[in-house]
Amino acid sequence: MNITISISNDVSKASNLVLLVSDKTNWKAIENIVSPAIAKTIQGKLAKKVNPFVLNSGTEILFVVNVDGGKELWQQTETARKFGFQINKSLNAQKADAVSVLNTTGESALAYAFTEGLALSNYKFSKYLTKDKEDKALTKVLVDKNTLSKAEVEELNILVNAVFAARTLINEPVNFLTARQLGEEFKKLAKEAGVKAEVFDKKKIETLKMGGLLAVNYGSQDPPSFSVLEYKPAKAKNKQPIVLVGKGVVYDTGGLSLKPTGNSMDQMKSDMSGGACVAAVITAAAKAKLPLHIVALVPATDNRPGENAYTPGDVIRMMDGSTVEVLNTDAEGRMILADALHYAKKFKPELVIDVATLTGAAMRALGSHASAYMGTASKSTKEKIEKSGYDTFERLWEFPLWEEYGKMLQSDIADQKNIGGELAGMITAGKFLEKFTDYPWLHLDIAGAAFTLSESDYRGRGGTAIGVRLLFNFLKNY
Ligand code: BES
Ligand code: MN
Ligand code: ZN
Repeated sequence: MNITISISNDVSKASNLVLLVSDKTNWKAIENIVSPAIAKTIQGKLAKKVNPFVLNSGTEILFVVNVDGGKELWQQTETARKFGFQINKSLNAQKADAVSVLNTTGESALAYAFTEGLALSNYKFSKYLTKDKEDKALTKVLVDKNTLSKAEVEELNILVNAVFAARTLINEPVNFLTARQLGEEFKKLAKEAGVKAEVFDKKKIETLKMGGLLAVNYGSQDPPSFSVLEYKPAKAKNKQPIVLVGKGVVYDTGGLSLKPTGNSMDQMKSDMSGGACVAAVITAAAKAKLPLHIVALVPATDNRPGENAYTPGDVIRMMDGSTVEVLNTDAEGRMILADALHYAKKFKPELVIDVATLTGAAMRALGSHASAYMGTASKSTKEKIEKSGYDTFERLWEFPLWEEYGKMLQSDIADQKNIGGELAGMITAGKFLEKFTDYPWLHLDIAGAAFTLSESDYRGRGGTAIGVRLLFNFLKNY
């Protein structure tokens, strides 16, 4: 699974070489590397629209990937990532441990994306395998010195590691990854990246009166945790921090409003995907030395129907002093995020972004191909994050926060109910959260894209770590 990308000064002698070509390829230059005869053969195959293909030239394996132009760059880069996935599969099937990459398309974004897809496809969660534990053969990607810059290669290594770290946290089951353990894992990641980390225990959470987080935790044998990570470089561009908030429900049974039997609970270890995402992003930002002051907050607990579990009908006093009538204990994400969003106020943030596997409604609306988002941040911030969505192919689609949706949360006996009814569930969830914000804010509901059962591309099987590349890209261009 471990894979390192580095620069190669001479790919012409590589035993496994990937040539990225397009209609802009300069074939004369290629002849110097693969011989004129082979260059001809390649062109012949390309004319027949074979793509990608393997050309056995002596002892070497030559993969040729034709990234067809004609489409938008964000579509071409995604095609390149998917080619990376295909080539990764063939290389590992052949037990190759190294591969070299040469870009002849003149578009470095394509080489970046191809290498990204190739490396991301090397992920394997093997901790609990006792047989077939063997790692993937591929461990090295050597990128030609003119294909990617040193900085790009460095960034890719950081990103790939961040995605892998987040995926592993998501894939860890709750019988290992309790709320407290999640905090421990964050501390390890933070230490390695030079990020400050503090994990509040139940006592501290009680002192802070985080009523939402404590309520969701009532039915659990395991205490909650609240992680605070901070990266503050000497020369930050932003005067006030950017705060990232991630949902850290380490397992969601639904609580007393138990999820139906069948398989609706099978993926619920992934209900901390937002938490894993923000921890991975802040540590990646620190490793890449982005000039930004960033804070990450992760409220964490499991949601269970234990003896003292919070119940439909309960009225909970939240950290901000407001009250919530709980009518469905399965709407627990908003209960714990609300306290984190309130806590974020103390940083006087210039922007807060929360990431959460929050609603089945978001998943039903967009499937796994996009995340629902909404918020009060400026139009230009929204345009930037949408652009990051296209550039990383972790696309976002905006939903409205019109006040009528807020009315759906009116309660007779408390300030709000925690559910808004059957319709527009991702929006009423957003309206609920909005009440706890007083700063520019974006809410990303990643329920649809966070977890996958089939390995159809470089996102892998299990936790996808959706949001990590998106937010890193957004912060890099901030
Ligand atoms: N964690 C779930 C949302 C979810 C569902 C994520 C499926 C990934 C896949 C969340 O806590 C939840 O249960 N939401 C409820 C809210 C409802 C009770 C208002 C939902 O969407 O059904
Ligand atoms: Mn739930
Ligand atoms: Zn949940």
